[in-house]
Amino acid sequence: MNPRRDEPAPLALLARRLRDARRVVAITGAGVSAESGLRTFRGATVADLPADMQALWKEFDPASLATPEAFDANPAMVTKWYDWRRLGCLAAEPNPGHAALAELEHQLHARGGTLTLLTQNVDRLHQRAGSTNVVELHGSIIDWRCTRTGRRVTPDAAPMPAFPPPSPFDPAGLLRPDVVWFGEALPEDALTRAGEAAVECDVFLSLGTSAVVYPAAAFSRLASSHGAFTGEINLEATPISNSVDVSIRARTGDALPRVVELAFGEG
Ligand code: OAD
Repeated sequence: MNPRRDEPAPLALLARRLRDARRVVAITGAGVSAESGLRTFRGATVADLPADMQALWKEFDPASLATPEAFDANPAMVTKWYDWRRLGCLAAEPNPGHAALAELEHQLHARGGTLTLLTQNVDRLHQRAGSTNVVELHGSIIDWRCTRTGRRVTPDAAPMPAFPPPSPFDPAGLLRPDVVWFGEALPEDALTRAGEAAVECDVFLSLGTSAVVYPAAAFSRLASSHGAFTGEINLEATPISNSVDVSIRARTGDALPRVVELAFGEG
C-alpha cells in the first residue's frame, strides 16, 4: 500500500519503521478505549460531552476510590464504583484501534516478528479484539480477587449481589477488583516482561496514554535509550511528545488502521 499524496509524513514514516521491525512493543492507555465509549482518566474537557462523560478524574477523586486506604475506609462505595465500571467495560466493544493492534500482531508474527502489547487498560478489550501477547500492567477489572486468599474469580455480567461483595472462597474475605491501585506495586512478572521487551525492541509505540503515571511512562525512554525508534499517537501533546521520534496527533482508531494498512497492506 503506497502512501497517498496527501498522507501525513509521520504516518508513512511510522509505517516504514513497522514494516522493517522484528520486535515491536506498544503501550496503550485509556485513549485507545475512548472510541469504545469508555471514559479516560485525564485529558482535555470535550465541549460537546456532558459532565458524566468527561475524564473520570474530573468527576471522581482517585484518592477516595482508587487506593487501598479508600477500600479499607469504605469498601461498599469503592466496590460499587468499580462494579459500575466493570459492567461498562463488559458492555463496550473493541474499536478499530484495538482491531488494528491485533492485525499488527498477526502481520509481524507472519514475518517471524513479535508485538508485545503493554496495557494500562483494565478492560480486556485488546484480548477481545484478538491480541494474544498482552501484558496487563494495571491488572484487570473483569477479574476480582479475594482479600484473604488472593484467589481470582470472573463475576457474571450482572451487578454484584451485594456491596462489598463477599468472597466465595473465605467467609471472612471480600472481593475486590484485580486492578492495581495507587500506592500498590505493579505485578512483578508484568513489570519484568515489560522492561525486557522495551530494552529489546526495534520500535516502541505509546498509544492513547497521558504518559504521566510511572513506571509505565518510563518504558518509552528506556526503549529509546536502547536504540528503539519511538512513536506516539495521542489527541494531545504529552510529556514524551518532544522526546519521541514521531508524535502523531490523531485518534488511535483512525491512525492505527491506516498505519497498519500502509505497512502491510497490498499494493
Ligand atoms: P489517561 O486518561 O491519563 O490519558 C488518556 C490519554 O488518551 C490522554 O492523553 C488523551 O489525550 C488521549 N486520548 C483520548 N482519546 C483518544 C483517542 N481517541 N485517540 C488517541 N488518544 C486519545 O489514561 P492513561 O494514560 O491510561 O490508573 O492513565 C494511566 C493510569 O492513570 C490509568 O491506568 C489509571 C489512571 O489513573 C489507575 O487507576 C491506577
